[in-house]
Amino acid sequence: MKKSPIEQDFLVESLDKSGNGVGFLADKKVLIRNALAGEVATARLLKRKRGIRFADGIRIQNPAANRRDSSCKSFPRCGGCGLHHMTTSFQMEFKKKLLADALKSFGLTPDHWMESVVACRLGYRRKARLGVRHVGSEVLVGFRESFSNRVARIGECLTLDPRVSMLIKPLKLLIAEVSIPNQIPQIEVACGDEELSLIVRHLANWSGEDLVRWKEFSDTFNVEVLFQSEGYDSLVRLSDEKISRLKYKLIEYGLSFEFYPQQFTQVNALLNQDLVRSALALMGDLRNQVVVDLFCGIGNFSLPIARSGGKVIGLEMEQSAVEMARSNARLNGLEDFARFEVADLYDQGGQNAAGYTQLAEVMQENPTSILLDPPRSGAGTNLASICKKESIERIVYVSCNPETFASDGAILIESGFRLNRVGVFDMFPNTSHLETLGLFVKECL
Ligand SMILES: C[S@@+](CC[C@H](N)C(=O)[O-])C[C@H]1O[C@@H](n2cnc3c(N)ncnc32)[C@H](O)[C@@H]1O
Repeated sequence: MKKSPIEQDFLVESLDKSGNGVGFLADKKVLIRNALAGEVATARLLKRKRGIRFADGIRIQNPAANRRDSSCKSFPRCGGCGLHHMTTSFQMEFKKKLLADALKSFGLTPDHWMESVVACRLGYRRKARLGVRHVGSEVLVGFRESFSNRVARIGECLTLDPRVSMLIKPLKLLIAEVSIPNQIPQIEVACGDEELSLIVRHLANWSGEDLVRWKEFSDTFNVEVLFQSEGYDSLVRLSDEKISRLKYKLIEYGLSFEFYPQQFTQVNALLNQDLVRSALALMGDLRNQVVVDLFCGIGNFSLPIARSGGKVIGLEMEQSAVEMARSNARLNGLEDFARFEVADLYDQGGQNAAGYTQLAEVMQENPTSILLDPPRSGAGTNLASICKKESIERIVYVSCNPETFASDGAILIESGFRLNRVGVFDMFPNTSHLETLGLFVKECL
């Protein structure tokens, strides 16, 4: 006979970094989803992993003032968003505290906190990797569950761009009908302002009938379907033509960007506009400035800098992103003001020191400002030598990881910079992720 789940009352003492309530059971930590600090939550005990118990807050006896009813039917089981039960103002307070704690742990004190920036809160997500699972006769397409690696059972998603959310049900139906439903581990989605692409990862070959079904799907929903059998270099289009480019605009700079679906772009297009505007404002008057944009991707910050009168050099590891950045510069008539080069910025010198050499060469241009927008792992060990360059007056740092922002910040402080301004940009509303924007200025300025 199946055992009924154990329910237990917990006093929620605090929140962990993912926004789960923290309670204790016989001195052992329990992480409780859908529970806020100060609440007494009746929670259903789930599994145990590495000494930590997980639980589901199913009834709250004294709802906290910062609680709201979640608008998402899949919360809290779906792990796509963990903060749906928090009011917007509390989410921002929570994220600001995550950043403040990270700064404190590396001994950083900003001169000023900028106002947190919030844009659209639902339907914002333009890029996502969705898991696919075939269970019995049912197909699941969605984010992973929280506290688990299973694919969540969802029929729609309030966080995804609505154009993607409405594809979840048709995708489930289609995958249930193809000949290899067990051989499709994930689907990546990418949206432009007007276009939509899916990258369907598959581990076995499609039948002729499968391809007809995908073609019908692509035509019906006006979506480009790409198949990926191995790495990204195996991408093929459903029809034989070249992979088409997606597009977005930064209207206030009069800029259009093109990108391929597998390339990095900021997930929240509206918030990205605020982020770019704010990052540029921190650089001051860009006319006569030379700016080095490190980890530049397809030129999301570089081209607005060039449009504002700066001369910009972007460095980026992905060859295809650099080619796209160059093409975007031409598209916008900025090729004389924006140069892009391939460089692995984590490269440490040594025998194949292409990235290191490229970085050293670019630094000979005497940049006045640096824009840094690295991946979660941070700017890397070359940061210490980069910021020794005397011409640099300010470093504008955009980060999706408060921990590496703070640890890199400590290196900048040690090298004679001051953290003049910092703020939270809500790139990923209703999740515990945050984007940080900071300005480091040379101490003597
Ligand atoms: C957070 S994205 C920022 C991209 C761009 N600034 C934007 O706003 O779209 C980080 C970028 O760093 C690039 N990258 C990752 N590791 C790198 C490395 N070791 N050296 C250079 N670029 C790297 C990625 O390809 C990606 O384009």
